[in-house]
Amino acid sequence: MYKIKLFDPQIGDDEVEAVARVLRSKWLAHGPEVEAFEKEFAQYIGVEEGAAVSNGTVALVLAMKALGIGPGDEVIVPNYTFVSTATSVLMVGAKPVFAEVEWDTFNISVEDVAKRISSRTKAVVAVHLFGHPADVKALRELADDKGIYLIEDAAQAHGAEAYGRKVGSWGHVAIFSFYATKNMTTGEGGIVVSNDREVIRRVKLLRNHGQVSRYVHEVLGGNYRMTSFQAAIGRQQLKKLDAMNESRRRNAFKLSRRLGELRGIELPVERSWAKHVYHLYAVKIVEADRDCVRRCMVERGIEVGVHYPMALTEQPLFRKLGYGDLEYPVSKRLSRVELSLPVHPGLSDEDIEYIASSLRQCLDRCRHEEG
Ligand SMILES: Cc1ncc(COP(=O)(O)O)c(C=O)c1O
Repeated sequence: MYKIKLFDPQIGDDEVEAVARVLRSKWLAHGPEVEAFEKEFAQYIGVEEGAAVSNGTVALVLAMKALGIGPGDEVIVPNYTFVSTATSVLMVGAKPVFAEVEWDTFNISVEDVAKRISSRTKAVVAVHLFGHPADVKALRELADDKGIYLIEDAAQAHGAEAYGRKVGSWGHVAIFSFYATKNMTTGEGGIVVSNDREVIRRVKLLRNHGQVSRYVHEVLGGNYRMTSFQAAIGRQQLKKLDAMNESRRRNAFKLSRRLGELRGIELPVERSWAKHVYHLYAVKIVEADRDCVRRCMVERGIEVGVHYPMALTEQPLFRKLGYGDLEYPVSKRLSRVELSLPVHPGLSDEDIEYIASSLRQCLDRCRHEEG
């Protein structure tokens, strides 16, 4: 239906053969394949250990539980992110406190986080939105200074770097998602990584019914395990991750070169200390009607996205919880102007040319009246 899709999972013969091998082995649920994936992924990120789970949302919930976060605690999260960064806080019984984000990078503002720390604050969650790292160096210093945890939500940022180190290695704990559209995928899936072996031990307990030995259950857990065939896909994807990210970066540079001269939009930025892995190529449509541009691109056969159509405090769920009247001008404005363009490794030079020329035409069509 679309000429150019917004996402294009890079699944090839390697993944197909890996899954077939696991199916033939008949080791379908948790097993050595999952353990190998955990080890390889932790090694790639540069941390001690990982615990693979069924998805990124569960990874957040179990990471917070493993840190002992619960009722009476506050966790600071950005107001502009995917919903589960904040709902995971509710799911452990704690209270999300929303911080404002930076206009340029869409990421949590360290200054604003500092203002929102209270005696109840247990942790701050840094989301590396769209693949650009949050300022984890400053956040880690702040967290250590205040005696709170830094949790990295790296669901969109496999392989991204801050100050020369991979994201996921800065926090006390970090999570990744392997959902189908992510920079690497296992279909559904997630992982918790940490240098703290005790935290990973607890996550592994929680994901498997709190079981310490066969049918002996020490704590309240559940079934949040990853299957062997998911892990088999993940191991193949991990081998290709750097190449897929390089391809995303090349596509982003090509888009930026072609879109650079257009009036009325702002292009993604990359901080001098950052390596952006372009999970999404997010532009800001500042002098035209974003929704008109979106419709116009779709008419041209290009799938584009809005991430996200409202700040979290504007979501019905959080309005009901009493967050609705709070002021977050940057988050709210970003949600009105953001537009995600395709940047995935499956794009050809012709596709990029077509995206750029279509955006030029759509901006002209949808420009706000001047004067
Ligand atoms: C920033 C962020 N956090 C958490 C998640 C949750 O991951 P999952 O969809 O695997 O539950 C996602 C993904 O969709 C995400 O984008």
